[in-house]
Amino acid sequence: MRVTAAVFEKLYKPFSVDEVELDPPGPGEVLVQIVATGVCHTDAITRDGDLPFPPPGVLGHEGAGIVAEVGPGVTDVAVGDKVVIGWPWCGQCRNCLDGQPRYCLSLGPLVAGGCRPDGSMPLRRTDGSPLHSHFFGQSSFATYSLCAASSLVPVAADAPVEILGPLACGIGTGAGAVLNALRPGVGSSVVVYGAGAVGLSAVMAAGLTGATTIVAVDRLPARLSLARELGATETIDVSEAGANPVAAVHEICGGPADFSLECTGVIEVVRQAADSVGMRGTCALIGGAPAGASFSLDHMSTLWGKRVIGTLGGEGRSVELIGALIALNKQGRFPYDKLITPFPLESVNDALEASRAGDVIKPVLRMS
Ligand SMILES: NC(=O)c1ccc[n+]([C@@H]2O[C@H](COP(=O)([O-])OP(=O)(O)OC[C@H]3O[C@@H](n4cnc5c(N)ncnc54)[C@H](O)[C@@H]3O)[C@@H](O)[C@H]2O)c1
Ligand SMILES: [Zn+2]
Ligand SMILES: [Zn+2]
Repeated sequence: MRVTAAVFEKLYKPFSVDEVELDPPGPGEVLVQIVATGVCHTDAITRDGDLPFPPPGVLGHEGAGIVAEVGPGVTDVAVGDKVVIGWPWCGQCRNCLDGQPRYCLSLGPLVAGGCRPDGSMPLRRTDGSPLHSHFFGQSSFATYSLCAASSLVPVAADAPVEILGPLACGIGTGAGAVLNALRPGVGSSVVVYGAGAVGLSAVMAAGLTGATTIVAVDRLPARLSLARELGATETIDVSEAGANPVAAVHEICGGPADFSLECTGVIEVVRQAADSVGMRGTCALIGGAPAGASFSLDHMSTLWGKRVIGTLGGEGRSVELIGALIALNKQGRFPYDKLITPFPLESVNDALEASRAGDVIKPVLRMS
């Protein structure tokens, strides 16, 4: 069928919005009419070559919409159901069977392989030349997306589907890192480096726990004000002359913090986040840095019982994490909708630029 998509033509270049052809769903697949799809920093770093998804193709991995058609064997969802498209997983590997589908052993090819898991390519230009698809199993910078039924999270008929897509990546990643991975205990301290969509979601989630000190660190004062509104008890502005965020954290916490989260994707900040926690503290790495980046840590203070961990997608299973965040948002306890700015699909390049410039926090592309 003919659909409209933002085509990622070349590395570093703006997307071009065009008509393309998409095949009908095969066995176990679902065609989703996209209502809206979030723009994540990971789309930008993929366009710039830091994730190995091959152009030309279609990016987008925070889609939500309405089931338009189901392929053979699909019984969990039906035409007309509202769904959020979660991360893909194989369901058969050791980690999937262990209840950790974020760490599916096929994750690399499933998110960035550029085709279906069987290697076939269901997306092409109107002249018949192939386009890569299935970015994070969805390629949702388009009016329709073909995805595995197993990655879908069905939501209630009255759910606000136009804001739900970002729960599948940016928003869910920050919140899940706190709620699933770190689980701060009563009276603990949590430091969040980077008050973008991911970091502010971590701040809001920390506010749902027993943590009593929640520190947001950023270089944009407006984001730090918002962090305070969303639950940060302290903020550190690294744009101030002579700012030393690690010393400031130690001063606020009366020593090292219990938990830190690196949500900037800036490699120098990894060391700051790791130095912010001490013995038995945990530093969670979340930000996506340039391809091939490495970092170094102080050996002794790390050896002395510090944990530095990588986390993906907020861990856990999409169905529980997204379901819980929708309920918390409805109750007014997780107001992530305050982070969203809508753009039409045609303005995808403006949306990416506004996000890069720090003018908007979570752009969401709405289909007309
Ligand atoms: N691990 C995962 O599963 C996962 C999922 C989604 C996104 N990500 C990554 O998480 C990162 C954050 O995503 P986002 O959408 O929130 O991005 P964003 O650009 O909205 O936020 C990054 C924030 O970091 C701040 N910042 C930059 N340099 C800083 C510094 N030196 N000190 C303190 N703050 C600084 C920026 O001002 C900005 O507010 C990205 O790198 C993205 O690729 C990872
Ligand atoms: Zn798997
Ligand atoms: Zn993402």
